[in-house]
Amino acid sequence: EWTTENVVEEQVAAIREQVGGRRVICGLSGGVDSAVAAALVQRAVGDQLTCVFVDHGLLRKGEVEQVERDFVAATGVSLKTVDARARFLAALEGVSDPEQKRKIIGREFIRVFEQAEREILAEAAAEGEPVEFLVQGTLYPDVVESGGGAGTANIKSHHNVGGLPEDLQFKLIEPLRKLFKDEVRKVGAELGLPREIVQRQPFPGPGLGIRIVGEVTEERLELLRDADAIAREELTAAGLDDEIWQCPVVLLADVRSVGVQGDGRTYGHPIVLRPVSSEDAMTADWTRLPYEVLARISTRITNEVPGVNRVVLDATSKPPATIEWE
Ligand code: XMP
Repeated sequence: EWTTENVVEEQVAAIREQVGGRRVICGLSGGVDSAVAAALVQRAVGDQLTCVFVDHGLLRKGEVEQVERDFVAATGVSLKTVDARARFLAALEGVSDPEQKRKIIGREFIRVFEQAEREILAEAAAEGEPVEFLVQGTLYPDVVESGGGAGTANIKSHHNVGGLPEDLQFKLIEPLRKLFKDEVRKVGAELGLPREIVQRQPFPGPGLGIRIVGEVTEERLELLRDADAIAREELTAAGLDDEIWQCPVVLLADVRSVGVQGDGRTYGHPIVLRPVSSEDAMTADWTRLPYEVLARISTRITNEVPGVNRVVLDATSKPPATIEWE
């Protein structure tokens, strides 16, 4: 019988058996899959697991705290955070091309993660306990997809935070290999993970870096984080979380338009709302959000986020547009 309790029990036993007394590393991204995978391994082998969280500075408002504070509180996991915000910003300086941004973020991520890995390996070796396992939040659809079948054209170079280092020297633990996304969420809830993590909608590995059309700067990230937080808050308050697949909020940093606010003329940036409905992100339709909700989001963003004087709605399906703007 399929129950979340059975899945947890079964996986915990299997992981214990596989790992024995050895040590394990897991990369956290802020997303559901890595969080649930880590929580399962933590339940199975406790402190033999060390989690690594690379803070690349491209997450949304509150997400770093969700990992560092709420996830740790819920699981008791031992966490090594690497503050790599300055490094990512420096690497992205002057870059506006979407593919180049993706490549840089992916490359830096792997470098930082591997460095953290080496430190953990060294610490463990000093204690005479080798690290032998790496946790991956691979889901059933990923397993099927990579098992061959029709090749799909590579439209964007996707990157998953927590991705495998090139010279793999670990055995893999993949406790979610038989699960679909909705099942992973249920298992996460069973394990007592925070709602914000368990219910998190899809979010790209390169994060806000590909939601700023133009160069990524700290100032622009701040602005986008504020606008995005308002949109998420209002969508949740309106009870629309289950209706939309995800709603990217995009800053058109290279576009300016004239506005009038208070006593004078403004020359600010537009924010794009991109609410979509989808089954699997391969195709998508733009979500017909209620006008009142759009009005509330627009009013709040233009009032509360300095530098933004216009909010526009992306009314395009996929295809022809992709979900993300970059
Ligand atoms: P697109 O923009 O290609 O996005 O229609 C399809 C889905 O994939 C997400 N996405 C990513 N997820 N790493 C990820 O893990 C990535 O580099 C990446 N790029 C896009 C996007 O949010 C949507 O759900």
